[in-house]
Amino acid sequence: MEAVILAAGKSTRMRSKTSKIFHSICGKPMIFYVVNALKSYKIHIVSNQSSKETLQEMFPNAKVHVQKEQKGTADALKSAIDYIEDDEFVVVNGDMPLIDRDDIEAARALMKLNNLDAVILTAVLDNPKGYGRIVRKDNCIEIVEEKNADEETKKIKEINSGIYLFKTKKAKEALPKIEENQLTGEYYLTDIISFLDSVDTMVVDFENILGVNTRKQLQEARKIIQRRIIDRFEYVTFVDSDNTYVNYDVEIGEDTIIYPNVHLRGKTKIGKGCIIENGSVIENSVIKDNVHIKPYSVIEESIIGDCCEIGPFAHLRPFSELDKYVRIGNFVETKKARIGKGTKASHLTYLGDAEIGEDVNVGCGTITCNYDGYRKNQTIIGDRVFIGSDVQLVAPVKVEHDALIAAGTTVTKDVEAFSLAISRTPQVNKPGWVKKYRKAMEKKLKEDKKS
Ligand code: UD1
Ligand code: CA
Repeated sequence: MEAVILAAGKSTRMRSKTSKIFHSICGKPMIFYVVNALKSYKIHIVSNQSSKETLQEMFPNAKVHVQKEQKGTADALKSAIDYIEDDEFVVVNGDMPLIDRDDIEAARALMKLNNLDAVILTAVLDNPKGYGRIVRKDNCIEIVEEKNADEETKKIKEINSGIYLFKTKKAKEALPKIEENQLTGEYYLTDIISFLDSVDTMVVDFENILGVNTRKQLQEARKIIQRRIIDRFEYVTFVDSDNTYVNYDVEIGEDTIIYPNVHLRGKTKIGKGCIIENGSVIENSVIKDNVHIKPYSVIEESIIGDCCEIGPFAHLRPFSELDKYVRIGNFVETKKARIGKGTKASHLTYLGDAEIGEDVNVGCGTITCNYDGYRKNQTIIGDRVFIGSDVQLVAPVKVEHDALIAAGTTVTKDVEAFSLAISRTPQVNKPGWVKKYRKAMEKKLKEDKKS
């Protein structure tokens, strides 16, 4: 079977510079979900001129047809119908990201069974506002748009979903007969019914046919898609799945626990037995097994080895690569940094453009000074190096294995293995100095008051 997705509309009700079909839901453009649900069919997409290239790039297997002027859904179908070769096809509005292929297959079976020209998928809603109403009169069906409906018609709760199955031959004959709507000047695909002989309806679950015309409906659709994504992870504990944000492409291993307000984005892959605590944002990263990520950590395009401990408040920027058992503590930022097994940077540190060995202790307040105003320079630190607190490593610089950098040192020269590097102004203690100082200052204040 072939499928036509109508996606050329102006998205007026979204009030957006971006066509609504490209608005993101759980990390994918809305149109992705429509195409994905129909992927077993040969897909045609009706697009406007400006979206054409993006759509063709996104869906190389689909045939994209351009509707030059947006003159309504019937006019949209006209731009694709000549290319349909199969005996039957389905038309779907491009703003229905929740559609289910099973509903379409059921309607297809009904069409075959009763040898119908068309089947319209409908739903019954408590609040049908905005949708076309299914009006039934002496065995005939008519669809009346909200804009064209009188008060009586508006009370009808059965609505047109925007999914239609057609016999190709019958639709090709009927489509040109549709006339312009008097009120809106548009050609309504829904008017095709009056030119067909046998049409039936099939009621489906409303959740599957929610149309996204407004930002509010976009949010409603997001909630449902989010729930569907989270339901895939049967062996993962979500402490509060209503407040957890997991993108479509994310993978999560069993026995992992995800706390509220965690965002897992892009192609992130989380291993088994991990704990991801509140407010952490992880994007396009690989987190291996038994990793503990404490609250409010941000991880982008990075790889975290088994049994690492991250955060709270850690920032792992792109190309951070942590081996096993690494500890990255609060207010530590890494970028383009390879960090060896068992190494610890527990507090207030910046490690950028660095290669750090195994079992290194990075003291509080360590900074790799990687930028000279022109280039990014590399810091290399060997295994078992001990870096005291408040150390600056002025890159490019190399500290060989088992060296010790004393607290407060500014490292500007390479350090050999097993050496101590220390750069401090010698300390001087002056006994009784404070007493003299206070006396002198108090005297000065008294003189100031007099004058
Ligand atoms: C449409 C139906 C309505 C149904 C509802 C379900 C018509 C006339 N009305 O209304 O009965 O209850 O869907 O969600 O069909 N489009 C084009 N070219 C155009 C106009 C629209 O490609 O010239 C595309 C849009 O991008 C959209 C789809 O067709 O994806 C439907 O158009 P939209 O304006 O959203 O129709 P509704 O008012 O929602
Ligand atoms: Ca719509």
